[in-house]
Amino acid sequence: MYVKFSSIILFLAIASSECSRILFIHPCISRSTVLPLQVLAKDLAKKGHDVTFVSLYPFDKKVENYRDIKIEPSEEIAKFYEEGGKNVVDKPNPLKMMKMFDKVAFQLGNETLQSKEVRGLMNEQFDLVITGYFLNDFLLGLADHFKCPSIVFFSASFVSPINLMVGNPLSPEGAPHIFSQSNELSTLTQRVKNFLMNIIDRVIIKNVAYYKSKKIYEFNFPPDKYRSYDEVIRSVSLVLVNTHFTSSGPRPLLPNLVEVGGLQIKPNPSPLPEDLKTFLDDAKDGAILFSFGSNAKSIYIPEDKQKIILKVFSKLKQRVIMKWESDVLPGKPDNVMISKWLPQNDVLAHPNIKAFISHCGYGGVIEGKSNGVPIIGIPFVGDQNGNADKIVEEGWAIKVQLADVTEENLMNALKEILNNPKYRDTVKKQAFLAKDRPMSAQDTAVYWVEYVLRHNGAPHLHYPGADLNFFQANSIDVILFIFAVIYAVFKVIKLICGFIFCRSKKGSSKKLKRN
Ligand SMILES: *[C@@H]1O[C@H](CO)[C@@H](O)[C@H](O)[C@H]1NC(C)=O
Repeated sequence: MYVKFSSIILFLAIASSECSRILFIHPCISRSTVLPLQVLAKDLAKKGHDVTFVSLYPFDKKVENYRDIKIEPSEEIAKFYEEGGKNVVDKPNPLKMMKMFDKVAFQLGNETLQSKEVRGLMNEQFDLVITGYFLNDFLLGLADHFKCPSIVFFSASFVSPINLMVGNPLSPEGAPHIFSQSNELSTLTQRVKNFLMNIIDRVIIKNVAYYKSKKIYEFNFPPDKYRSYDEVIRSVSLVLVNTHFTSSGPRPLLPNLVEVGGLQIKPNPSPLPEDLKTFLDDAKDGAILFSFGSNAKSIYIPEDKQKIILKVFSKLKQRVIMKWESDVLPGKPDNVMISKWLPQNDVLAHPNIKAFISHCGYGGVIEGKSNGVPIIGIPFVGDQNGNADKIVEEGWAIKVQLADVTEENLMNALKEILNNPKYRDTVKKQAFLAKDRPMSAQDTAVYWVEYVLRHNGAPHLHYPGADLNFFQANSIDVILFIFAVIYAVFKVIKLICGFIFCRSKKGSSKKLKRN
């Protein structure tokens, strides 16, 4: 009887999570950042959920149970993004990058919330809100608006707001920061560096991003109608992060901080467009993929470096596919094909691809790894340097800074990667390691989203430590209290001793007198 009853409950629970209305919102201008979350949305739509996805990049084809809501960035934002793409490959300027982040994260998020598209959605009802994190946690106000649970997805590796949202420890003693991924953290110097990285991250996030985000939140979700910004952040049910311990190292994780690294990698690659397929099929000596991803623009590589790169390519017997954001490439060698947008993972999955020249964004590195393709890394900003160092350490990549690219350097790196079997063998082993999981990244993500739906936000996953402030979370208040107690006890003992000592001294002096 009990068994029957519990299985009915389970059935009802599962049935009730079937066909939920899920709102995804990821107003990020970087297409590759949005892609993994779109894969999850599509999978959920396939399982019968009613999915709405707000982004700048709707799918080309209609997907069943899936509604795309397209956001147009204002001209100002588009301009900043374009300039940012130039900045990255030309000469990275941290101040300009900060300004760009301000535009593409805060302003774009703020504009999105005020767009007529999102205003319209706010008259509907949803059972769950899933936001793509990009310094825009003010979007979580939408979950408060619909009075439903929320899930946050982050497409890169761990940064402090992702951990702190659910109260996960940053663990600077053993978990490398996103900007120093290759750090082994075995020496004191390495640990000091990692500790400082975490502090800088926290100070910037807390002092710049936090207040800005809060202001945007309060503008769009006024305090008389909505819960406070802090409360809404603390109510996040689950954080999905696009990492896996085989790439970013083991670290302590709470049960509601779940790694789904490789979400964008389909179990079976899709067929390539005809021109790409023919070009790769006919590459008898193999082919190389050259791509700096969707943010950094290859067309802005300084001209002298462009010439060097093309000259080296022209000397190869392999074919080269280049992501190039223009219809023309002056001096393009015959063995090179250019394309403005590439189905990168599907290209990497082609058996004739022998090497990948990449800027080492997190997505590209994972795609190279899971397809067993060695990388020549030309990193620019953010986590790219750390990612490159890490895969060099793993033994399946060579790092060359763009400033160091000469005909000789690039040719040597290519020869080494193409001819020394060490790189290919190592990356094949790494690919096997990355795929050996109880469930695929896609199934893991779907499972946890439905778990949150089944258990009405799964409040039992909420870690009490998440609600504490900095002093409490680091037990500083407890340590101070213990010291205070020890001090007080010590004082009392001293007082008592002093008292006894005084009395005995008095007593003995009296005795002395009498003698
Ligand atoms: C958000 O947008 C509104 C309306 O355009 C504007 O008044 C407000 O200053 C913006 N908030 C921030 C912090 O940029």
